[in-house]
Amino acid sequence: MSFALNPKELCCLRLNRTMKKALIIWSFLFGALILAVLVFGYFASLPTAPNSHSGRIVLRANDRAVVARGAEIYVENCASCHGADLKGEPNWQTENPDGSWPAPPHDASGHTWHHADELLFTITKYGTAEALDIQEYVSNMPKFGKTLGDEEIIAVLSWIKAQWPDEIRQQHDALNEQVRRAR
Ligand code: HEC
Repeated sequence: MSFALNPKELCCLRLNRTMKKALIIWSFLFGALILAVLVFGYFASLPTAPNSHSGRIVLRANDRAVVARGAEIYVENCASCHGADLKGEPNWQTENPDGSWPAPPHDASGHTWHHADELLFTITKYGTAEALDIQEYVSNMPKFGKTLGDEEIIAVLSWIKAQWPDEIRQQHDALNEQVRRAR
C-alpha cells in the first residue's frame, strides 16, 4: 500500500486550494459590495441640489477681506441690473410685459434681507425658478453657478449684507437663526 497521493486525490487537493482562493476573492467582493452600499447610502441620504448646502452657507458680512472681494464681484456681475448703489431697476415692483420682473434693489428698501443666507445663495447659484421651485418662472437673472464659485457667491452676498444698516443686519441674523433652528 502506497502513501503517495493518487492522481484523483491530487485533483481534489487542487480543487480545495482553488476553492479557498475563490472564497477569499468572494469575501473581498462581498466586503467591497457592503462598503459600496454604505457609501451609496450615505450620499443618497444627503439632500440634493439646490438644498445640498444645508447649514453650510453663512454670509460673512463682518469679514473685511471677504467683503472687499465681494465688492469687486458685485461691480463685475450684479451692478448692471441691481445698480451700483443697490437700488435695483426703476419700477421694480411692476411686472414686465413678458411676465419677467425688473431687478429688485438689494438695499434695505428691497426684500433681499427677507431671505435667509441659504436662499440668497441658492437664488444666485441656481436661479430664481429652481430656488423657489417654480419651473415656469420667467427670470432675467443669470444663474451664477457656472461663472462664480461658491466662495465668490458667499463673498458678493456678504458685501450686499455689509451695506445694510445695523438694524436690518440684526433682523437678518435673527431670521437666519430662526431658519437654522427650524431645521
Ligand atoms: C441681468 C440682470 C441681473 C443680474 C446681472 C443679476 N441679477 Fe439678481 N435679479 C435679477 C432679477 C430680474 C431679479 C428678480 C427675480 C427674478 O426675476 O429672477 C433678481 C433677484 C435677485 C435676488 C433675489 C432678491 C429678492 O429680493 O428676492 C438675489 C439675491 C439676486 N438677484 C442676487 C444677484 C447677485 C448676487 C448678482 C450678481 C452676482 C445678480 N443678482 C445679478 C436680475 C439680475
